[in-house]
Amino acid sequence: MVAKPGGISRPCFFIVVAATLWVLTLYLRLLVPIAFSWRVAVDSGRSSGGKDDPCRGRYVYIHDLPPRFNAEILRNCSTAYAGWPKMCDDVSNGGLGRPMAGGAFTGETGWYATHQFALDAIFHGRMRQYGCLTNDSAASDAVFVPFYAGFEFAAHSWGYDAAARDAASADLVRWLVRRPEWRRAGGRDHFVVGGRTAWDFMRSDPNSAWGNAFLLSPAAKNLTLLAVETATLGWGNDVAVPYPTYFHPRSDAEVLSWQQRIRDSDRWWLTSFVGATRPGDDKSIRSQIVAQCAASPSCRQLGCKFGSAQCHYPGDIMVLFMSSTFCLQPSGDSSTRRSTFDAMVAGCIPVFFKPRSAYIQYRWHLPRDHATYSVLIPDESVRAGNVSIEAELRKIPPAAVVKMREEVIKLVPRLLYADPRYKLQTVKDAFDVAVDGVLERVKQQIKGGDDYGATAGWR
Ligand SMILES: *[C@@H]1O[C@H](CO)[C@@H](O)[C@H](O)[C@H]1NC(C)=O
Ligand SMILES: *[C@@H]1O[C@H](CO)[C@@H](O)[C@H](O)[C@H]1NC(C)=O
Ligand SMILES: *[C@@H]1O[C@H](CO)[C@@H](O)[C@H](O)[C@H]1NC(C)=O
Ligand SMILES: *[C@@H]1O[C@H](CO)[C@@H](O)[C@H](O)[C@H]1NC(C)=O
Repeated sequence: MVAKPGGISRPCFFIVVAATLWVLTLYLRLLVPIAFSWRVAVDSGRSSGGKDDPCRGRYVYIHDLPPRFNAEILRNCSTAYAGWPKMCDDVSNGGLGRPMAGGAFTGETGWYATHQFALDAIFHGRMRQYGCLTNDSAASDAVFVPFYAGFEFAAHSWGYDAAARDAASADLVRWLVRRPEWRRAGGRDHFVVGGRTAWDFMRSDPNSAWGNAFLLSPAAKNLTLLAVETATLGWGNDVAVPYPTYFHPRSDAEVLSWQQRIRDSDRWWLTSFVGATRPGDDKSIRSQIVAQCAASPSCRQLGCKFGSAQCHYPGDIMVLFMSSTFCLQPSGDSSTRRSTFDAMVAGCIPVFFKPRSAYIQYRWHLPRDHATYSVLIPDESVRAGNVSIEAELRKIPPAAVVKMREEVIKLVPRLLYADPRYKLQTVKDAFDVAVDGVLERVKQQIKGGDDYGATAGWR
Protein backbone atom coordinates (compact mmCIF):
# COMPACT_ATOMS: atom_id res chain seq x y z
CA MET A 1 0.00 0.00 0.00
CA VAL A 2 1.39 3.37 -1.02
CA ALA A 3 -0.03 6.41 0.80
CA LYS A 4 -1.25 9.21 -1.44
CA PRO A 5 0.68 12.43 -1.12
CA GLY A 6 -0.99 14.87 1.26
CA GLY A 7 -2.91 12.23 3.21
CA ILE A 8 -1.93 9.53 5.66
CA SER A 9 -4.38 6.73 6.34
CA ARG A 10 -5.20 5.93 9.98
CA PRO A 11 -3.55 2.46 10.24
CA CYS A 12 -0.49 3.85 8.59
CA PHE A 13 -0.38 6.74 11.11
CA PHE A 14 -0.32 4.29 14.02
CA ILE A 15 2.44 2.25 12.43
CA VAL A 16 4.52 5.39 11.95
CA VAL A 17 3.94 6.52 15.57
CA ALA A 18 4.76 3.06 16.95
CA ALA A 19 7.87 2.80 14.81
CA THR A 20 9.00 6.28 15.84
CA LEU A 21 8.56 5.49 19.54
CA TRP A 22 10.41 2.23 19.11
CA VAL A 23 13.32 3.88 17.34
CA LEU A 24 13.38 6.65 19.95
CA THR A 25 13.48 4.09 22.77
CA LEU A 26 16.28 2.21 21.09
CA TYR A 27 18.16 5.45 20.53
CA LEU A 28 17.87 6.50 24.15
CA ARG A 29 18.71 3.09 25.61
CA LEU A 30 21.51 2.07 23.32
CA LEU A 31 22.84 4.86 21.22
CA VAL A 32 22.97 7.84 23.53
CA PRO A 33 25.64 6.43 25.83
CA ILE A 34 27.77 5.49 22.82
CA ALA A 35 27.11 8.80 21.10
CA PHE A 36 28.00 10.54 24.33
CA SER A 37 31.37 8.89 24.60
CA TRP A 38 32.02 9.74 20.94
CA ARG A 39 31.02 13.35 21.61
CA VAL A 40 33.65 13.59 24.32
CA ALA A 41 36.32 12.52 21.87
CA VAL A 42 35.04 14.66 19.01
CA ASP A 43 34.55 17.80 21.14
CA SER A 44 38.03 17.75 22.54
CA GLY A 45 39.30 17.01 19.06
CA ARG A 46 37.50 20.11 17.81
CA SER A 47 39.04 22.24 20.52
CA SER A 48 42.41 21.31 19.08
CA GLY A 49 41.54 21.82 15.45
CA GLY A 50 38.33 19.96 14.51
CA LYS A 51 37.98 18.11 11.23
CA ASP A 52 41.21 19.51 9.87
CA ASP A 53 43.04 18.49 13.03
CA PRO A 54 46.04 16.47 11.82
CA CYS A 55 45.94 14.60 15.14
CA ARG A 56 42.37 13.38 14.68
CA GLY A 57 42.28 9.66 15.51
CA ARG A 58 45.93 9.81 16.62
CA TYR A 59 45.82 11.21 20.16
CA VAL A 60 47.86 9.30 22.71
CA TYR A 61 47.62 9.71 26.46
CA ILE A 62 50.68 8.71 28.51
CA HIS A 63 49.81 7.18 31.87
CA ASP A 64 51.52 8.96 34.73
CA LEU A 65 52.90 5.84 36.40
CA PRO A 66 54.52 5.84 39.83
CA PRO A 67 58.32 5.93 39.36
CA ARG A 68 58.73 2.38 40.65
CA PHE A 69 57.51 1.23 37.21
CA ASN A 70 60.08 3.16 35.17
CA ALA A 71 62.48 5.84 36.48
CA GLU A 72 63.32 3.88 39.63
CA ILE A 73 64.06 0.68 37.69
CA LEU A 74 66.44 2.73 35.56
CA ARG A 75 68.07 4.34 38.60
CA ASN A 76 68.60 0.86 40.07
CA CYS A 77 70.43 -0.34 36.96
CA SER A 78 73.52 -1.36 38.91
CA THR A 79 71.51 -3.99 40.81
CA ALA A 80 70.75 -5.73 37.50
CA TYR A 81 74.46 -6.34 37.12
CA ALA A 82 74.18 -10.11 37.55
CA GLY A 83 72.41 -10.62 34.24
CA TRP A 84 73.26 -7.43 32.37
CA PRO A 85 76.83 -6.27 32.93
CA LYS A 86 77.26 -2.52 32.47
CA MET A 87 73.52 -1.93 32.26
CA CYS A 88 73.95 1.59 33.68
CA ASP A 89 76.33 2.51 30.83
CA ASP A 90 74.13 0.77 28.30
CA VAL A 91 70.98 2.68 29.22
CA SER A 92 72.65 6.09 29.61
CA ASN A 93 71.87 8.95 27.18
CA GLY A 94 68.15 8.28 27.13
CA GLY A 95 68.71 4.58 26.38
CA LEU A 96 71.11 5.13 23.47
CA GLY A 97 74.17 4.15 25.55
CA ARG A 98 77.65 5.62 25.23
CA PRO A 99 78.64 7.49 22.08
CA MET A 100 80.71 5.20 19.86
CA ALA A 101 84.36 5.27 20.78
CA GLY A 102 87.38 3.43 19.40
CA GLY A 103 87.19 2.65 15.71
CA ALA A 104 84.77 3.74 13.01
CA PHE A 105 82.15 6.41 13.79
CA THR A 106 84.07 7.73 16.81
CA GLY A 107 83.14 11.38 17.16
CA GLU A 108 80.38 11.21 14.53
CA THR A 109 77.01 12.45 15.74
CA GLY A 110 74.17 9.97 15.86
CA TRP A 111 76.30 6.88 16.65
CA TYR A 112 76.03 5.09 20.00
CA ALA A 113 76.98 1.67 21.36
CA THR A 114 73.29 0.92 21.84
CA HIS A 115 72.35 -2.29 23.64
CA GLN A 116 69.97 -4.67 21.89
CA PHE A 117 67.56 -4.61 24.86
CA ALA A 118 67.48 -0.83 25.44
CA LEU A 119 64.22 -0.12 23.65
CA ASP A 120 62.10 0.54 26.78
CA ALA A 121 63.85 3.87 27.42
CA ILE A 122 64.34 4.86 23.77
CA PHE A 123 60.67 4.32 22.96
CA HIS A 124 59.52 6.23 26.06
CA GLY A 125 61.77 9.12 25.02
CA ARG A 126 60.35 9.13 21.50
CA MET A 127 56.81 8.92 22.91
CA ARG A 128 57.41 12.09 24.96
CA GLN A 129 58.21 13.85 21.67
CA TYR A 130 55.16 12.49 19.85
CA GLY A 131 53.25 15.28 18.13
CA CYS A 132 49.73 14.20 19.15
CA LEU A 133 49.92 13.78 22.91
CA THR A 134 46.92 14.75 24.99
CA ASN A 135 46.51 15.24 28.71
CA ASP A 136 42.80 14.53 28.39
CA SER A 137 42.67 10.76 28.59
CA ALA A 138 38.99 10.72 27.56
CA ALA A 139 39.95 12.28 24.23
CA SER A 140 42.79 9.85 23.52
CA ASP A 141 42.75 7.17 20.85
CA ALA A 142 45.35 5.04 22.63
CA VAL A 143 46.96 4.95 26.06
CA PHE A 144 50.72 4.42 26.43
CA VAL A 145 51.80 2.66 29.61
CA PRO A 146 55.46 3.62 30.19
CA PHE A 147 56.28 0.49 32.20
CA TYR A 148 59.88 -0.62 31.52
CA ALA A 149 58.90 -4.26 31.12
CA GLY A 150 62.25 -5.27 29.63
CA PHE A 151 64.39 -3.46 32.22
CA GLU A 152 62.21 -4.87 34.98
CA PHE A 153 62.85 -8.33 33.56
CA ALA A 154 66.58 -7.67 33.75
CA ALA A 155 66.30 -6.43 37.33
CA HIS A 156 64.69 -9.60 38.69
CA SER A 157 65.60 -12.41 36.36
CA TRP A 158 68.81 -13.75 37.75
CA GLY A 159 68.78 -15.17 41.28
CA TYR A 160 65.13 -14.54 42.06
CA ASP A 161 62.22 -16.96 42.45
CA ALA A 162 59.10 -16.86 40.29
CA ALA A 163 57.15 -14.76 42.80
CA ALA A 164 59.86 -12.07 42.85
CA ARG A 165 60.10 -12.12 39.06
CA ASP A 166 56.33 -11.61 38.78
CA ALA A 167 55.89 -9.00 41.52
CA ALA A 168 56.36 -5.76 39.56
CA SER A 169 54.19 -6.70 36.58
CA ALA A 170 51.43 -7.98 38.92
CA ASP A 171 51.68 -4.67 40.79
CA LEU A 172 51.39 -2.78 37.48
CA VAL A 173 48.31 -4.74 36.41
CA ARG A 174 46.59 -4.05 39.77
CA TRP A 175 47.36 -0.33 39.30
CA LEU A 176 46.12 -0.25 35.71
CA VAL A 177 42.79 -2.06 36.03
CA ARG A 178 41.61 0.32 38.73
CA ARG A 179 42.00 3.37 36.49
CA PRO A 180 39.05 4.90 34.60
CA GLU A 181 41.19 4.78 31.42
CA TRP A 182 41.23 0.99 31.68
CA ARG A 183 37.49 0.62 32.20
CA ARG A 184 36.76 2.50 28.98
CA ALA A 185 37.79 -0.48 26.80
CA GLY A 186 39.02 -3.15 29.19
CA GLY A 187 42.57 -2.07 28.36
CA ARG A 188 42.30 -2.85 24.64
CA ASP A 189 43.48 0.67 23.80
CA HIS A 190 46.56 0.38 26.06
CA PHE A 191 50.08 -0.43 24.90
CA VAL A 192 53.37 -1.27 26.63
CA VAL A 193 56.92 -1.73 25.37
CA GLY A 194 59.10 -4.61 26.53
CA GLY A 195 62.31 -4.37 24.52
CA ARG A 196 63.07 -8.09 24.70
CA THR A 197 61.55 -11.16 23.09
CA ALA A 198 57.92 -11.69 24.13
CA TRP A 199 58.91 -15.17 25.34
CA ASP A 200 60.52 -13.48 28.33
CA PHE A 201 57.08 -12.36 29.56
CA MET A 202 55.28 -15.66 28.97
CA ARG A 203 56.53 -18.12 31.57
CA SER A 204 53.76 -20.71 31.57
CA ASP A 205 55.58 -23.27 33.76
CA PRO A 206 55.68 -21.85 37.29
CA ASN A 207 58.79 -23.95 38.01
CA SER A 208 60.76 -22.62 35.08
CA ALA A 209 63.81 -20.62 36.09
CA TRP A 210 63.36 -18.21 33.16
CA GLY A 211 61.04 -15.28 32.62
CA ASN A 212 57.98 -13.75 34.22
CA ALA A 213 54.28 -14.29 33.59
CA PHE A 214 53.33 -10.68 32.77
CA LEU A 215 51.70 -11.43 29.41
CA LEU A 216 49.73 -14.36 30.75
CA SER A 217 47.66 -12.34 33.23
CA PRO A 218 44.05 -11.93 32.01
CA ALA A 219 44.34 -8.12 32.01
CA ALA A 220 47.64 -8.02 30.13
CA LYS A 221 46.05 -10.17 27.42
CA ASN A 222 43.88 -7.17 26.54
CA LEU A 223 46.69 -4.68 25.96
CA THR A 224 49.25 -4.59 23.15
CA LEU A 225 52.86 -5.41 23.97
CA LEU A 226 55.54 -4.20 21.57
CA ALA A 227 58.55 -6.51 21.77
CA VAL A 228 61.61 -7.11 19.57
CA GLU A 229 60.34 -10.61 18.80
CA THR A 230 56.77 -11.87 18.93
CA ALA A 231 56.16 -15.25 20.48
CA THR A 232 52.69 -15.67 19.02
CA LEU A 233 53.35 -14.57 15.41
CA GLY A 234 50.13 -12.65 14.98
CA TRP A 235 47.56 -14.58 16.99
CA GLY A 236 48.46 -12.99 20.31
CA ASN A 237 48.75 -9.42 21.56
CA ASP A 238 52.55 -9.23 21.31
CA VAL A 239 53.69 -7.39 18.19
CA ALA A 240 57.29 -7.28 16.96
CA VAL A 241 59.07 -3.97 16.30
CA PRO A 242 62.73 -3.55 15.20
CA TYR A 243 65.61 -3.97 17.64
CA PRO A 244 67.42 -0.69 18.20
CA THR A 245 70.54 -0.23 16.03
CA TYR A 246 73.63 1.94 16.67
CA PHE A 247 72.38 4.83 14.53
CA HIS A 248 70.13 7.48 16.07
CA PRO A 249 69.92 10.45 13.72
CA ARG A 250 68.91 13.89 14.91
CA SER A 251 67.51 15.30 11.68
CA ASP A 252 66.13 14.31 8.29
CA ALA A 253 69.39 15.52 6.73
CA GLU A 254 71.41 12.99 8.75
CA VAL A 255 69.14 10.19 7.53
CA LEU A 256 69.41 11.27 3.89
CA SER A 257 73.18 11.67 3.93
CA TRP A 258 73.52 8.25 5.60
CA GLN A 259 71.42 6.68 2.83
CA GLN A 260 73.72 8.27 0.25
CA ARG A 261 76.81 7.03 2.10
CA ILE A 262 75.66 3.39 2.07
CA ARG A 263 74.52 3.68 -1.55
CA ASP A 264 78.05 4.81 -2.52
CA SER A 265 79.80 2.27 -0.30
CA ASP A 266 82.22 -0.20 -1.93
CA ARG A 267 81.10 -3.72 -1.15
CA TRP A 268 84.06 -6.01 -1.61
CA TRP A 269 82.62 -8.92 0.30
CA LEU A 270 79.87 -10.99 -1.27
CA THR A 271 78.71 -12.23 2.14
CA SER A 272 79.49 -11.64 5.79
CA PHE A 273 78.52 -13.08 9.12
CA VAL A 274 78.88 -11.75 12.65
CA GLY A 275 78.04 -14.19 15.40
CA ALA A 276 79.04 -17.22 17.42
CA THR A 277 78.24 -20.89 16.90
CA ARG A 278 75.83 -22.69 19.24
CA PRO A 279 77.76 -25.89 20.02
CA GLY A 280 75.10 -27.19 22.42
CA ASP A 281 72.21 -26.75 19.97
CA ASP A 282 72.01 -29.42 17.29
CA LYS A 283 69.20 -27.54 15.50
CA SER A 284 71.50 -24.55 14.94
CA ILE A 285 73.02 -24.16 11.48
CA ARG A 286 75.60 -21.66 12.69
CA SER A 287 78.51 -24.13 12.58
CA GLN A 288 77.68 -24.88 8.92
CA ILE A 289 77.49 -21.13 8.19
CA VAL A 290 80.84 -20.50 9.88
CA ALA A 291 82.44 -23.42 8.00
CA GLN A 292 81.06 -22.34 4.61
CA CYS A 293 82.16 -18.77 5.22
CA ALA A 294 85.66 -19.80 6.32
CA ALA A 295 86.03 -21.85 3.13
CA SER A 296 85.06 -18.96 0.82
CA PRO A 297 87.42 -16.09 -0.08
CA SER A 298 84.39 -13.84 -0.73
CA CYS A 299 82.92 -14.28 2.77
CA ARG A 300 84.15 -12.39 5.81
CA GLN A 301 83.22 -13.02 9.43
CA LEU A 302 83.77 -11.50 12.83
CA GLY A 303 83.85 -14.19 15.49
CA CYS A 304 82.05 -13.68 18.76
CA LYS A 305 83.39 -16.77 20.48
CA PHE A 306 84.12 -16.51 24.16
CA GLY A 307 87.51 -14.82 24.45
CA SER A 308 87.24 -13.20 21.02
CA ALA A 309 86.30 -9.55 21.18
CA GLN A 310 86.08 -9.10 17.40
CA CYS A 311 82.34 -8.66 17.34
CA HIS A 312 82.20 -6.39 20.36
CA TYR A 313 83.09 -3.18 18.54
CA PRO A 314 79.97 -1.74 16.92
CA GLY A 315 82.08 0.35 14.52
CA ASP A 316 83.81 -2.79 13.16
CA ILE A 317 80.47 -4.53 12.68
CA MET A 318 79.01 -1.59 10.77
CA VAL A 319 82.10 -1.23 8.56
CA LEU A 320 81.89 -4.92 7.64
CA PHE A 321 78.16 -4.71 6.84
CA MET A 322 78.74 -1.56 4.78
CA SER A 323 81.28 -3.45 2.67
CA SER A 324 79.16 -6.59 2.16
CA THR A 325 76.44 -7.32 -0.39
CA PHE A 326 74.68 -10.04 1.62
CA CYS A 327 74.56 -10.48 5.41
CA LEU A 328 73.79 -13.95 6.80
CA GLN A 329 71.20 -13.96 9.57
CA PRO A 330 70.73 -17.47 10.99
CA SER A 331 68.71 -17.63 14.21
CA GLY A 332 70.63 -17.82 17.48
CA ASP A 333 69.22 -17.95 20.99
CA SER A 334 65.84 -17.14 19.44
CA SER A 335 64.51 -16.75 15.89
CA THR A 336 65.25 -13.04 15.45
CA ARG A 337 68.51 -11.08 15.62
CA ARG A 338 69.45 -7.51 16.27
CA SER A 339 72.13 -8.02 13.63
CA THR A 340 69.42 -8.10 10.92
CA PHE A 341 68.69 -4.44 11.59
CA ASP A 342 72.35 -3.40 11.86
CA ALA A 343 72.95 -5.06 8.48
CA MET A 344 69.97 -3.45 6.78
CA VAL A 345 70.86 -0.02 8.19
CA ALA A 346 74.26 -0.59 6.52
CA GLY A 347 72.53 -1.30 3.20
CA CYS A 348 73.37 -5.01 3.30
CA ILE A 349 70.76 -7.42 1.90
CA PRO A 350 69.73 -9.86 4.67
CA VAL A 351 69.79 -13.62 4.03
CA PHE A 352 67.37 -15.49 6.28
CA PHE A 353 67.08 -19.21 6.88
CA LYS A 354 63.63 -19.24 8.52
CA PRO A 355 60.54 -17.12 7.78
CA ARG A 356 60.12 -16.50 11.48
CA SER A 357 63.46 -14.68 11.65
CA ALA A 358 61.73 -11.68 10.04
CA TYR A 359 58.82 -12.20 7.64
CA ILE A 360 56.22 -13.24 10.18
CA GLN A 361 57.64 -10.89 12.81
CA TYR A 362 57.93 -7.27 11.67
CA ARG A 363 54.70 -6.95 9.70
CA TRP A 364 54.41 -3.22 10.29
CA HIS A 365 58.02 -2.43 9.35
CA LEU A 366 59.02 -4.82 6.58
CA PRO A 367 57.29 -5.18 3.19
CA ARG A 368 54.93 -8.09 2.71
CA ASP A 369 56.80 -9.11 -0.46
CA HIS A 370 60.00 -10.25 1.22
CA ALA A 371 61.73 -11.20 -2.02
CA THR A 372 62.03 -7.47 -2.80
CA TYR A 373 64.59 -6.88 -0.03
CA SER A 374 65.89 -10.25 1.22
CA VAL A 375 66.85 -13.84 0.37
CA LEU A 376 65.49 -16.98 2.03
CA ILE A 377 67.58 -20.18 2.02
CA PRO A 378 65.69 -22.84 4.01
CA ASP A 379 67.75 -23.99 6.97
CA GLU A 380 67.05 -27.72 6.35
CA SER A 381 69.03 -27.57 3.13
CA VAL A 382 71.99 -25.90 4.86
CA ARG A 383 71.83 -28.42 7.69
CA ALA A 384 71.64 -31.30 5.21
CA GLY A 385 74.85 -29.91 3.71
CA ASN A 386 73.63 -30.02 0.11
CA VAL A 387 73.40 -26.26 -0.43
CA SER A 388 76.22 -23.80 -0.96
CA ILE A 389 75.07 -20.41 0.30
CA GLU A 390 77.55 -18.67 -1.97
CA ALA A 391 76.36 -20.58 -5.06
CA GLU A 392 72.73 -19.75 -4.24
CA LEU A 393 73.53 -16.04 -3.93
CA ARG A 394 75.62 -15.96 -7.10
CA LYS A 395 72.57 -17.19 -9.04
CA ILE A 396 70.89 -13.81 -8.43
CA PRO A 397 71.51 -11.51 -11.45
CA PRO A 398 73.54 -8.36 -10.61
CA ALA A 399 70.70 -6.05 -11.69
CA ALA A 400 68.35 -7.82 -9.26
CA VAL A 401 70.91 -7.42 -6.47
CA VAL A 402 71.13 -3.66 -7.12
CA LYS A 403 67.34 -3.42 -7.03
CA MET A 404 67.14 -5.31 -3.72
CA ARG A 405 69.84 -3.14 -2.17
CA GLU A 406 67.99 0.00 -3.24
CA GLU A 407 64.87 -1.39 -1.54
CA VAL A 408 66.86 -2.03 1.66
CA ILE A 409 68.23 1.54 1.54
CA LYS A 410 64.70 2.85 1.09
CA LEU A 411 63.61 0.92 4.19
CA VAL A 412 66.43 2.27 6.40
CA PRO A 413 64.52 5.20 7.98
CA ARG A 414 61.71 2.96 9.25
CA LEU A 415 64.22 0.52 10.78
CA LEU A 416 66.02 3.00 13.02
CA TYR A 417 65.02 4.93 16.11
CA ALA A 418 65.78 8.65 15.93
CA ASP A 419 67.53 10.31 18.87
CA PRO A 420 64.65 10.96 21.30
CA ARG A 421 66.17 14.27 22.35
CA TYR A 422 65.80 15.72 18.84
CA LYS A 423 63.04 15.64 16.26
CA LEU A 424 63.06 14.43 12.67
CA GLN A 425 61.06 16.72 10.41
CA THR A 426 59.21 14.55 7.88
CA VAL A 427 61.08 11.23 7.92
CA LYS A 428 59.16 8.41 9.65
CA ASP A 429 61.34 6.22 11.87
CA ALA A 430 60.64 2.82 13.47
CA PHE A 431 58.84 4.56 16.33
CA ASP A 432 56.46 6.45 14.01
CA VAL A 433 55.65 3.26 12.12
CA ALA A 434 55.02 1.41 15.40
CA VAL A 435 52.63 4.11 16.68
CA ASP A 436 50.71 4.03 13.37
CA GLY A 437 50.45 0.27 13.81
CA VAL A 438 49.24 0.54 17.39
CA LEU A 439 46.56 3.11 16.53
CA GLU A 440 45.30 0.94 13.68
CA ARG A 441 45.34 -2.16 15.86
CA VAL A 442 43.45 -0.41 18.67
CA LYS A 443 40.82 0.74 16.19
CA GLN A 444 40.37 -2.85 14.96
CA GLN A 445 40.30 -4.21 18.49
CA ILE A 446 37.65 -1.79 19.68
CA LYS A 447 35.46 -1.04 16.70
CA GLY A 448 35.81 -4.26 14.78
CA GLY A 449 35.90 -6.23 18.04
CA ASP A 450 34.33 -9.67 18.04
CA ASP A 451 32.04 -8.71 20.90
CA TYR A 452 29.99 -5.66 19.91
CA GLY A 453 28.32 -5.63 23.33
CA ALA A 454 31.70 -4.71 24.80
CA THR A 455 31.19 -1.23 23.30
CA ALA A 456 29.20 -0.52 26.45
CA GLY A 457 32.60 -0.39 28.13
CA TRP A 458 33.13 2.95 26.39
CA ARG A 459 30.63 4.69 28.66
C1 LIG B 1 65.56 0.17 43.91
O1 LIG B 1 66.53 -0.14 44.90
C2 LIG B 1 66.12 0.17 46.22
C3 LIG B 1 67.32 -0.10 47.12
O2 LIG B 1 67.79 -1.40 46.94
C4 LIG B 1 64.91 -0.67 46.58
O3 LIG B 1 64.47 -0.36 47.88
C5 LIG B 1 63.79 -0.38 45.59
O4 LIG B 1 62.69 -1.23 45.84
C6 LIG B 1 64.28 -0.61 44.17
N1 LIG B 1 63.22 -0.17 43.27
C7 LIG B 1 62.80 -0.91 42.26
C8 LIG B 1 61.72 -0.33 41.42
O5 LIG B 1 63.24 -2.00 42.02
C1 LIG C 1 50.26 17.97 29.93
O1 LIG C 1 50.47 18.52 31.22
C2 LIG C 1 51.83 18.74 31.55
C3 LIG C 1 51.89 19.20 33.00
O2 LIG C 1 50.93 20.17 33.27
C4 LIG C 1 52.42 19.76 30.59
O3 LIG C 1 53.78 19.97 30.89
C5 LIG C 1 52.30 19.22 29.18
O4 LIG C 1 52.78 20.16 28.25
C6 LIG C 1 50.86 18.87 28.86
N1 LIG C 1 50.85 18.18 27.58
C7 LIG C 1 49.95 18.42 26.62
C8 LIG C 1 50.07 17.63 25.38
O5 LIG C 1 49.05 19.22 26.75
C1 LIG D 1 39.43 -7.71 28.71
O1 LIG D 1 38.52 -7.40 27.68
C2 LIG D 1 37.31 -8.09 27.72
C3 LIG D 1 36.50 -7.72 26.51
O2 LIG D 1 37.13 -8.16 25.36
C4 LIG D 1 36.57 -7.74 28.97
O3 LIG D 1 35.36 -8.48 29.05
C5 LIG D 1 37.44 -8.06 30.17
O4 LIG D 1 36.82 -7.62 31.35
C6 LIG D 1 38.79 -7.37 30.05
N1 LIG D 1 39.65 -7.80 31.13
C7 LIG D 1 40.04 -6.99 32.09
C8 LIG D 1 40.89 -7.60 33.15
O5 LIG D 1 39.75 -5.83 32.13
C1 LIG E 1 68.74 -30.59 0.43
O1 LIG E 1 68.35 -31.63 1.29
C2 LIG E 1 67.11 -31.44 1.94
C3 LIG E 1 66.92 -32.55 2.96
O2 LIG E 1 67.28 -33.78 2.42
C4 LIG E 1 66.00 -31.37 0.90
O3 LIG E 1 64.77 -31.16 1.54
C5 LIG E 1 66.28 -30.23 -0.05
O4 LIG E 1 65.31 -30.21 -1.06
C6 LIG E 1 67.68 -30.38 -0.65
N1 LIG E 1 67.95 -29.15 -1.40
C7 LIG E 1 68.54 -29.15 -2.57
C8 LIG E 1 68.73 -27.81 -3.20
O5 LIG E 1 68.89 -30.14 -3.14
